[in-house]
Amino acid sequence: MTQLLIKNAKLRNTNRQSDLLIDRGKFQKIGTGIKAAPDAQVIDADGNLVCPPIADPHVHLDAVLVAGLLTRKNQTGTLLEAIDIWGEWREHLTKDLLKTNARKVIDWYIANGVLRVRTHADCTDPTLLTVESLLELKEEVKDLIDLQVVAFPQNGIFTDPMNEKLLRKAIDMGVDAVGGAPHIEYTREDGVKDVELVYDLAEKYDRLVDIHIDETGDPHSRFVEVMAKESINRGMGERSAASHTTAMHNYDNDYAYKLIGNIAKAKMNMIANPFDNAVLQNRRDGYPRRRGITRVDEMSERGINVCIGHDSIMDPWYSMGKGSMLQAAFLLLHMGQLNGASQIQQLFDMITTNSAKTMCLSDYGIKEGNSADLIIYDAQTEEDVIRLQSECTHVIRKGRVICKTQPAKRDLLYSENKWVDFKL
Ligand code: FE2
Repeated sequence: MTQLLIKNAKLRNTNRQSDLLIDRGKFQKIGTGIKAAPDAQVIDADGNLVCPPIADPHVHLDAVLVAGLLTRKNQTGTLLEAIDIWGEWREHLTKDLLKTNARKVIDWYIANGVLRVRTHADCTDPTLLTVESLLELKEEVKDLIDLQVVAFPQNGIFTDPMNEKLLRKAIDMGVDAVGGAPHIEYTREDGVKDVELVYDLAEKYDRLVDIHIDETGDPHSRFVEVMAKESINRGMGERSAASHTTAMHNYDNDYAYKLIGNIAKAKMNMIANPFDNAVLQNRRDGYPRRRGITRVDEMSERGINVCIGHDSIMDPWYSMGKGSMLQAAFLLLHMGQLNGASQIQQLFDMITTNSAKTMCLSDYGIKEGNSADLIIYDAQTEEDVIRLQSECTHVIRKGRVICKTQPAKRDLLYSENKWVDFKL
């Protein structure tokens, strides 16, 4: 394998340009004026931003791209109607269709520089086809992208006697993380049991925890407090992620303050999903209309690791999306009022290092000895990358360029100076 030298890279948190020498799939040397072997491939980053691959810690690859195929569309736009539609659709799902759709989205992710993905697999489907398909896919795409699979009880664990058995079977099949859905259970008591069982299983079988939790506008949905308690008592916070937590938007401020303190104490990871939650929650508000975005700014200010998930890509919950985490960050900037200068930097962390932390990834980041996974943007600063929704000109996996994108070329023909290759 020939060496790869990337010259004039603008790395994050530095003001100068660096060269990166990659050998046998790993970062060998990072510095300035680095010389490579005469036959090395050379890419000139030209001062553009070079960073580790984007990580999406929350998507449902078993449901992607079905929006156009559904015979019944989501008319109310609510989470609950989407779950019903998904339940009907699941009957028609085949392994071929699921894997074809998921594979197509993985190509979209790669083009968008996303090389780390955590997907949920609905494990209340009695065939467990979703879990089986996504575990197979994880193996099939491992040279391109690192995939984690979560066993996700979409319909709750205690709403059907079969669901706990299916969850246990999915763990036996080899999922990376155990999921729950306490706000879907019939009662508060069952919701608490849901969270406790997830921790019992994750602890017993040495898996990560990632629970869909409090994904509702109902301020009485208070299951994150149970997660915080279990995380603190079992010392499992850094291996735990709370996904959505949209009810927190509507909590009484004193309660939210106490809760956020306990989440920080537990060292839990939090995942906001701005696409779905901007449209699904608080739909019965009338006006003024609250939004289903968790308290990203308050949690970040108190040192909690917060990251961003894509969640849905063209499914019954959310019919838009193209696998771009920059688009998700752009949306959260507006919905979460994260437009302060340091908050824009944090947004970039939320789709890279923070997500990697949530996913408990090792071997991530531009560092000598790490796998040479990186992306080169068509812009020099994080602000411009988010503002312009920049293309990744190069996506590199283990030292190999796996995707190249030619950014749009614009010639302003009406201008006196004829601005050729005009940039925004
Ligand atoms: Fe989700």
